[in-house]
Amino acid sequence: MDRQINSVEMEQRKGRRLVLFPLPLQGHINPMFDLANILHSRGFSITIIHTTFNSPNPSNYPHFTFRIISEDLPENNRCTKDLIAFVSMLNAICGLPFRDCLADLLSDTSEEPIACLISDAILYFTQDVANELKVPRMVLRTGAASSFCVFSSFPLLREKGYLPIQDSQLEEPIVELPPLRVKDLPVIHTNDPEDLYNVVVGMVEQSKASNGMIWNTFEELEGTSLATLHQKLGVPFFPIGPFHKCFAVTSSTTSSSLLTHDQSCISWLDKQDPKSVIYVSFGSLASISETQFLEIAWGLANSNQPFLWVVRPGLVHGSNWVEPLPNGFLETLGGKGHIVKWAPQQQVLAHPSVGGFWTHNGWNSTLESICEGVPMVCMPCFTDQKVNARYVSEVWGIGLQLEKGLERGEIEKTIKRLMVDKDGENIRERMLNLKEKSNLCLSESGSSKQALDSLVYHILSFESLTFHTH
Ligand code: UDX
Repeated sequence: MDRQINSVEMEQRKGRRLVLFPLPLQGHINPMFDLANILHSRGFSITIIHTTFNSPNPSNYPHFTFRIISEDLPENNRCTKDLIAFVSMLNAICGLPFRDCLADLLSDTSEEPIACLISDAILYFTQDVANELKVPRMVLRTGAASSFCVFSSFPLLREKGYLPIQDSQLEEPIVELPPLRVKDLPVIHTNDPEDLYNVVVGMVEQSKASNGMIWNTFEELEGTSLATLHQKLGVPFFPIGPFHKCFAVTSSTTSSSLLTHDQSCISWLDKQDPKSVIYVSFGSLASISETQFLEIAWGLANSNQPFLWVVRPGLVHGSNWVEPLPNGFLETLGGKGHIVKWAPQQQVLAHPSVGGFWTHNGWNSTLESICEGVPMVCMPCFTDQKVNARYVSEVWGIGLQLEKGLERGEIEKTIKRLMVDKDGENIRERMLNLKEKSNLCLSESGSSKQALDSLVYHILSFESLTFHTH
């Protein structure tokens, strides 16, 4: 941080511009836009730099300015089938267009002076650009601190022989990172496992080199992981989450959703009994086989609980949408099931009829569930989701993990345990306790509110970057 500044300087520096650069995937775009809204509500001007791939709709954000970079992703890499190859590629090819765009913004004297760049932690190439242009760079980590702790231990995990994962070791505990087991490690299938290691190390090292990290989490939830990491990385930390709630209390909402929310599910929910519905969604990227899809369908039907199920086009390998379902599947359930392509998830979780969330444990979904006090059935698919699921079930005790794979009997049993059994009651009680904490941290004297005040001060302390010459 630069020198201490006084309140007059703080006032003079209000309105300074922040340049935000999201990773173009739904689970990263949402928190970055929430952060943009939070900081805008604290007086900053906002410019979003974005890729042509998954570009946001500027008309949803008339209060921000937008700059596009043409990243020229090869056609076969625009899809996100191999996520790690996609992320490696972005880091490899965005350098030049991003540098030119940022340099152009810095030399633009008609705009407010730029205070700093805030990039997604995964876009680690931006640290070199920031160094070259002498722009302070902060990172937004959209995932949990607990999973980042594991990512920051990748060199150790490799040295100790846990990585790459061997199938014969899946159930073994990782003594260095309790309560994780080998199968909870945040890995993902990729063509070249070395790519995953390099992306993770790049993200961690360039976060360490940044001027500070912004976290979509809160002290009362992840205090221990935050403290461990803070000591390890040694840069200022600002845990100011949960973003979507923080923003809701400071300003009006707009949507950063790449797909259209189907509002029909809200009127369907209105007709259900309080806390009776299990909401099922596996986020924006995960995919399943047709066999798994049918096991889920029958598990849901046999549980006899009403369900709202998001089947995203592309969720089921080889199908456009719900074609593998037997003819008349929903009709035979007599209105007990409702399927949509994409739901207004935050609204759904806040609905009084929703009593459980069967989730893949993406961090946004996990946090959104906590904020509404909805206990979870956990079915992590890859990367940080596995760590999140383990924390949900074992550390926070607010969900049940489907441990035995996707089998209809197991699904039925787990849903009943969560929704009707005594087990579920205890889980619900712990969840309500955490929900309360997620509200309190945003109050005037709450931990996240105070971290946000410190973040604003931290950013305003950077010296102005107008009128740079290149
Ligand atoms: C991805 C990664 O898979 C995950 O591991 C990482 O933590 C974040 O990025 P994703 O699949 O996008 O996650 O899930 P998640 O983090 O839960 O984000 C999904 C977002 O889409 C949430 O904000 C959720 O509210 C929204 N959503 C989801 C909808 O608006 N409607 C839906 O029907 C489903």
